[in-house]
Formats: sequence, structure tokens, C-alpha cells
Amino acid sequence: MSYQQYMPYTPADSRYNKMPYRRCGRSGLKLPAISLGLWHNFGDITPFGVQQKILRTAFDSGITHFDLANNYGPPAGEAERNFGEHMRRDWRPYRDELIISTKAGFGMWKGPYGNDGSRKYLIASLDQSLKRMNLEYVDIFYHHRPDDNTPIEETMGALYDIVKSGKALYAGISNYNPDQAKRAINCLKDMGMHMLIHQPNYNMFNRSIEQGLTELLSEEGVGIIAFAPLAGGRLTGRYLNGIPEDSRAAHDPRFLRPSDIDEKLLATVRALNAVAERRGQTLAQLALVWALRDPAVTSALIGASKPEQVAENVRALDNMSLSEEELGEIDTILANR
Ligand SMILES: NC(=O)c1ccc[n+]([C@@H]2O[C@H](COP(=O)([O-])OP(=O)(O)OC[C@H]3O[C@@H](n4cnc5c(N)ncnc54)[C@H](OP(=O)(O)O)[C@@H]3O)[C@@H](O)[C@H]2O)c1
Repeated sequence: MSYQQYMPYTPADSRYNKMPYRRCGRSGLKLPAISLGLWHNFGDITPFGVQQKILRTAFDSGITHFDLANNYGPPAGEAERNFGEHMRRDWRPYRDELIISTKAGFGMWKGPYGNDGSRKYLIASLDQSLKRMNLEYVDIFYHHRPDDNTPIEETMGALYDIVKSGKALYAGISNYNPDQAKRAINCLKDMGMHMLIHQPNYNMFNRSIEQGLTELLSEEGVGIIAFAPLAGGRLTGRYLNGIPEDSRAAHDPRFLRPSDIDEKLLATVRALNAVAERRGQTLAQLALVWALRDPAVTSALIGASKPEQVAENVRALDNMSLSEEELGEIDTILANR
């Protein structure tokens, strides 16, 4: 990654005027209703200046939470390395206005210690992440996915010690099912620590958290940050007129293939888009309002390849109410897909 000249950054004075900050479960921490993830578009294929504009637009709009993981890139680690450079250039004076998270749980380095849920992996990985990001601590450290082969006491014990060491302020889990989440939450509770947050996938196309996870997390006072609320771009207007060359489906088929954008999907997307238009919103905005309709969902964790997408998505906040009729219509469209 080559770093060009850049204009010094002064955040917008109006940055706290519009964004709602929602309490994360039973904790003192509030998160913006919309958070920004750096999974895509912050590796070595996205110009540094574009990354910078996306981050600046986000913060200027009140997005105070940036979400990373050890393996975000490409290549793995590059998103954190680039974020470290953004940190040095733009964000150092605003560190206390930011919630920065990272994770470990997927394969990161060769050999038996660079994957899964061992104490060895989690502690070493966070140390590497902090160096890449130029940070002394992260606000939230997640175990990225469950590992049933490692005793939950070991994985949660590592999160506990990481928080006690001050290298993270809060502990979280991601992609855990209700049984796994319950064991993790209880294990941390037995040590005297509260699980702050769970990061599951949640959007109109994947409502699996409604089968018990949301209820458990609400009861336990654990916040939910819903990742990929736009289904990677499928719940936006992006593919309504074909597959644009600069879209995820066109250039990163690892997670969204051109063949995923089929007529069946488009029929559903068109029907949802008609609901959005009647509300005077875009489909991306409707998808965010829908994901945030339950207060158990603290924040919707979006991705963006352009600053304009962030700006459009934040405008969802202008109309956050959904009528029973609209919800029913959306349910019917989704049931028929
Ligand atoms: N914990 C986990 O296992 C896990 C897994 C996945 C993601 N995540 C987190 O969730 C974050 C978001 O994931 P995601 O990027 O898949 O989320 P997403 O918000 O569902 O999709 C983002 C993509 O949608 C498109 N988009 C966004 N706003 C748009 C708009 N207004 N109009 C048209 N298209 C728009 C862009 O696609 P184009 O690139 O085509 O422009 C963008 O890259 C990640 O960065 C990461 O932090 C966590």
C-alpha cells in the first residue's frame, strides 16, 4: 500500500447531532445505531485515499464504532495495518471518541497456534493486532467463532485475562449459537465478568437469531451488533440493473458470486425496493431500519466501498419507524422468496 499526500482532518462539528447511541445490553457502553466494519475495502486493493474518505464520512456522521478482525484484508492483517496508518494520521486525537474492536478465531498464521480458541492463539493474536493498529488497547475484543474442541473455560479465561490486562475494555463473542453463547456468558459470569456483546449475522435474508439467540441475549443483558445487515450488498439497489464492475459480486467472488444474483433474488429485491420507495427510502435504508427495529439490536454493522454509501445509509435514521402493515408486507415478501 502506498500512502499519498493527504489533507489534515478536522471532524465535523455536527457529528453528534443526528446519530442515536443505543445502550449495549446491560452495560454502560452506548454504540451508534450504525457502525462501520472494515472487513472489505480496507485491504491492499482499495486506494488509501478512498479508505480515508469512508472513515472520515463515517465519523462526521456520528459513526463512532469501527470493527476489525485479525484476518481482514486482503491479505489477512492488512486492514488492521492500514487502520494503524489511519490512526496515526487522523484518529489519534479522537481515540477517546472511538470504539475500536478486533477479533481472533479464524486461521491467521501457520501452525497449530494461529487458529481456533486457545489461550495461546487469542493472546498472541491480540498482541499482533495492537501492533498493526498502533493501539495500546482495543475497546472490544471478540472470540470470532465458537471452537467446540477447546474448553469454553480456556477461551473465556483468555478473554477475561485480556480485559483484566487492559488490552481490551470489553469482551465479546461472534457467530456463537444459543447453546454456545449461554455457556460462554455463564462461564464469564462465574469469573465475575459480564459479556458485553454478541456479533451475529442478521438481515432480512438471515433471521436465524430470531430462533432463540435474541431472546437469550436480551435476558442476559448482552448487546447485539448485527453484521452484514445489507446481506453484503444484496439488500441494496446495487444489483437492480445488473452487476456493476466495481461491486463485491464482480470483484470478490469469495463471499458473493455473480451466480448468487439470480432472477429469484432480484424478484425479492424488487418487491422490497417497492416498499422502500413508498417510504421515500432506498432499499439499503429500509434494510437498516428493519434490522434495528428490535431494541435488542444495539447496532447495525455495515460495510461500504464508497463514502457516498455511508452517507446514504446514515440517512436511514431520518425515518426509523416501521408500521405493522409494512412489517407484514416485508414478512410476506420474505416468506415467498
Ligand atoms: N463476525 C463475523 O464473522 C463477520 C462476518 C462478516 C462481516 N462482519 C462485520 O460486518 C461488517 C459488514 O459486513 P458486510 O460488508 O458484508 O456488510 P453489508 O453492510 O451487508 O454489505 C456491505 C456492502 O453493501 C454495499 N453497500 C453498502 N451500502 C450501500 C448502499 N447505500 N447502496 C448500495 N450498496 C451498498 C457495498 O457493496 P459494494 O462493495 O459492492 O459496493 C458494501 O461493500 C464487516 O466489515 C465486518 O466488520 C463480521
